[in-house]
Amino acid sequence: MSDCIPYESDQDLFNPNRNLSPITTEVDGLGRLLIGGCLLSDLAARYGTPLYLLDEVTLRASCFAYKKALEKYYPGPSMPLYASKANSSLVISKLITSEGFGLDAVSEGEMLTALRGGVSGDRIVLHGNNKSDQELIFAYENGVTIVIDNQHDIHRLRSIIPREGTPARLMLRFTPGIECHTHEYIRTGHLDSKFGFDLEHLEKILTELKNSSWARLSGLHAHIGSQIFELQPHKDLASVMAEALKLAREIGHPVEDLNVGGGLGIRYVESDDPPSIENWVKTIANAVYEACNTRNLDLPRLICEPGRSLVGTAGTTLYKIGSRKSIPNIRTYVSVDGGMSDNPRPITYQSLYTACLADKPFGPKEEIVTIAGKHCESGDVLLKDISLPVSKSGDILVVFSTGAYNNSMSSNYNRIPSPAGVILKDGESDLVQRREQPEELLRYDILPARFIKVI
Ligand SMILES: Cc1ncc(COP(=O)(O)O)c(C=O)c1O
Repeated sequence: MSDCIPYESDQDLFNPNRNLSPITTEVDGLGRLLIGGCLLSDLAARYGTPLYLLDEVTLRASCFAYKKALEKYYPGPSMPLYASKANSSLVISKLITSEGFGLDAVSEGEMLTALRGGVSGDRIVLHGNNKSDQELIFAYENGVTIVIDNQHDIHRLRSIIPREGTPARLMLRFTPGIECHTHEYIRTGHLDSKFGFDLEHLEKILTELKNSSWARLSGLHAHIGSQIFELQPHKDLASVMAEALKLAREIGHPVEDLNVGGGLGIRYVESDDPPSIENWVKTIANAVYEACNTRNLDLPRLICEPGRSLVGTAGTTLYKIGSRKSIPNIRTYVSVDGGMSDNPRPITYQSLYTACLADKPFGPKEEIVTIAGKHCESGDVLLKDISLPVSKSGDILVVFSTGAYNNSMSSNYNRIPSPAGVILKDGESDLVQRREQPEELLRYDILPARFIKVI
């Protein structure tokens, strides 16, 4: 099995997070790659590169896996939310709503995208460790549930919610003090975290909220990190949360929602071995059930908010290969027409990816190359030392599993325009993100009058 032949890997239709490529990946009679029934080299020619692809079938299959597993393993009510920070767009908002998901947002922009994409306010949850008044007001006015993260949130909301107005629907986020093995930057549940209240302050905060007529505490929230392959931390989380739920109810809050966050990892490279969506849900559902049962608690509504494991595998990026530089006995750099602006994860988290050539996915592995981006930064490397058939300028490189935290974390570094994006299904492709034009990069620039006079 080669690191560049993704679709031979674990092909479980109902757990796409364990695939190395979208579940519709196939090759035609000429050995060329297709996703969603569309020939990748045709898509590159039609829409240009870099190009973000979204495979509708894979995204829907991931949603289905979460929904089915929640129904199967949790005896109480449940609601999955999509963590839209992973990839926020109108089309994804529409799609996840049609699959029965709610959504979590971290800004007015993400809330607006969700609302315009058809997600109703009462199915949106607002997170954030430093929400602005504008974001809080927007959330309150649109019936969004606000996750209070710190005293600042409480303080601001107290002054924002009108005295005679409907109380704000709140969740309370706390730091559960659980360590898990993932990259330091994406761990959030341990004590040294900027997110959430410390567990030891919980009782005081819950008592304060009980005496606040503007607040209606409907849920508790914790999230332990992202790209997690272990199941034990999620089991541990369930008992910490059940204990918090008990305390909240004893203090008199009619808390009905327990939001266990997201965090399930996906397979980026062959050696990654994440649990399936089904196993993840099963573990959490059983643990929450057990933890509540032991404490004689009525089952809460179980909420989870996956991001990466919903959209990650559904996304693929196409690049055009350009220049090449061979340094004898050291390395051969093959450069593509995108890089850290459309995918900042390798330079930020040293993330690994799997790639192949669109028209030669099964070609012999003739050389080891490093795929470099086009940015003026030595660290702008998308894949280091991967085996590929010999490529030439103009060939299309396919990088898999780019659906999460690529587009949403992209930038215009070096004033590179944002790529276009298309959604694929049954051999049809539809534009969902227009390619930005260089002229548009100047749209926020202002040259003050006194500079215009200067020759
Ligand atoms: C509060 C919260 N919920 C959900 C998620 C989604 O996590 P993931 O994409 O790993 O499922 C994140 C991301 O880190 C998060 O911070």
